[in-house]
Amino acid sequence: MQIKDLNRSIERLKKERDAVILAHNYQIPEVQDVADIIGDSLNLSRQAAKVPQKVIIFCGVHFMAETAAIISPDKRVLIPDTQAGCSLSDSITVQELREWKKDHPGAVAVGYVNTTAAIKSELDYCCTSSNAINVVNSIPADREILFLPDMFLGSYVSKTTGRKNMFVWAGECHVHAGISASDVNEKIRTLEDAEFIIHPECSCTTPILYDMSTGTYQNKAVSVLSTEGMMNHVNNSGSKNFVVATETGVLYRMRKQNPQKRFVAASEKAECQYMKMITLQKIHDSLLHDRYHVTVKKDIAKKARLAIDRMLAIG
Ligand code: 13P
Ligand code: SF4
Repeated sequence: MQIKDLNRSIERLKKERDAVILAHNYQIPEVQDVADIIGDSLNLSRQAAKVPQKVIIFCGVHFMAETAAIISPDKRVLIPDTQAGCSLSDSITVQELREWKKDHPGAVAVGYVNTTAAIKSELDYCCTSSNAINVVNSIPADREILFLPDMFLGSYVSKTTGRKNMFVWAGECHVHAGISASDVNEKIRTLEDAEFIIHPECSCTTPILYDMSTGTYQNKAVSVLSTEGMMNHVNNSGSKNFVVATETGVLYRMRKQNPQKRFVAASEKAECQYMKMITLQKIHDSLLHDRYHVTVKKDIAKKARLAIDRMLAIG
């Protein structure tokens, strides 16, 4: 089917099924264009709970669809491709987390939203890149913290909060770990007057941690933000040029909403193959065949929900 026929058919099926399409900022342009709501992982989970439709077509990766299913147990969450995983959420197993907790009795376990439902069920707090600092600051200073799974986000939070009794798991996202300081430096050198916006999962955060905490890097304004934080920032900033250090999918929405501004990827190679697995055809087939249903076992969902609710409560 041609794109326009697929779009027409998707619109018709959405009405028939009482469905809504949620898409992450890294989705391919055609998917973003057909989505009812686009956002970061936190925002999409919140929206999943609010939308009136019974069926949610979740265009993102599996842990995000699981989070939506936990928050909205009365809705039917479908993911168009079950292979859409996440290297970061795969970087810690439940067994490894349990052993880590055993080595630090009494520690508070704080996990990034990029984790499976089973890992979330073992956490005290869940957090996102936008509220990780607030979550850590809300924990009494004398309690040890186990922060997982992203080491770059963990180092950034530990540096920013000055927390000494915080242990960070050595996990990473292969896409963001691949954005190096030299990629960033090269782009910054070639773009006069550019602002630099960076996702905290990037490995390039490590050598410039000190600069980031002061808000400038090589005389350029620097902001560390989640993908939705990036969108709000570029929409409201008076700057004309931006170097963007994250998965390149977000540039489509930035350019669409700000045609008069220039956005350059810190690394053009930063593509998440899992995010790109979702296509218009798969969305269409998901609606047509009512597949693939994302479910979380009741006992896991109940425990994970506590950590997620704490994340949602701390802005
Ligand atoms: P955001 O929550 O900032 O959208 O990030 C999700 C993600 O997978 C980053 O790689
Ligand atoms: Fe996971 Fe990285 Fe892809 Fe985000 S970009 S979904 S963290 S693999």
